[in-house]
Amino acid sequence: MSRRGKFITFEGLDGTGKSTQLRKLAVALHEAGFKVVETREPGGTPTGEKVRRVLLDSATDGLSPLAEMALMFASRAQHIAEVIQPALDHGQIVLCDRFTDSTEAYQGGGRKLGSEAVLDLHRVLCGGLQPDLTLLLDSDPAASVSRARRRNQRAARGSRHHLHGDENRFEQETRAFFARVREGYRDIAAREPQRVVVIDARGTPAQTHAKIMEVVGKKLRLGRNT
Ligand code: TYD
Repeated sequence: MSRRGKFITFEGLDGTGKSTQLRKLAVALHEAGFKVVETREPGGTPTGEKVRRVLLDSATDGLSPLAEMALMFASRAQHIAEVIQPALDHGQIVLCDRFTDSTEAYQGGGRKLGSEAVLDLHRVLCGGLQPDLTLLLDSDPAASVSRARRRNQRAARGSRHHLHGDENRFEQETRAFFARVREGYRDIAAREPQRVVVIDARGTPAQTHAKIMEVVGKKLRLGRNT
């Protein structure tokens, strides 16, 4: 697959501050003169956002783990075709909130479907597209998940809830589920240390951002683009 741009993904448990950090990195790279695309999974395209609603709405009842994994990949395949690959072909930097590592950690680990199924599907449905760099934000799991829970409950109480549903389905999972997810992430980081960098995200957002800037500068050798 041709690749002129850079593909950077953000990973971690719910509530580790991925979205905030993605935004901060986007602003910094934009100010340095790079063309940046900010996107997320599940979602990132009109079709993917519809799939996201099905996946995250706590009103979605009885979704089987395999169907859940298939929908994650359906959203991703569309996202690659419509957004990620075209942007990379145009030399842009794609910042993506979650990618296949999430499926390996949540469906492979959390739902116990195993890594092999996820990696097989990735090869078939995503053409094996790998990020140039993955930033794995690590912080206290209990604190992260309860933060995500509070945020999503606040959002669900908002007026749009009746039209769009909430995004709480995963946050209702047990501690044991999130422990398996965290373990899944740690295994990926150990297996692919050249791609995955673990970032300690327990400090302030500014401290975490500084760590991310250092890693991105070093790993991708980004000179100014102007
Ligand atoms: P996200 O919007 O990133 O939630 P948060 O901001 O709380 O981290 O992701 C939504 C949820 O979807 C999250 O609980 C993780 C889950 N998910 C999977 O289980 N598998 C996947 O492949 C992806 C992309 C997300």
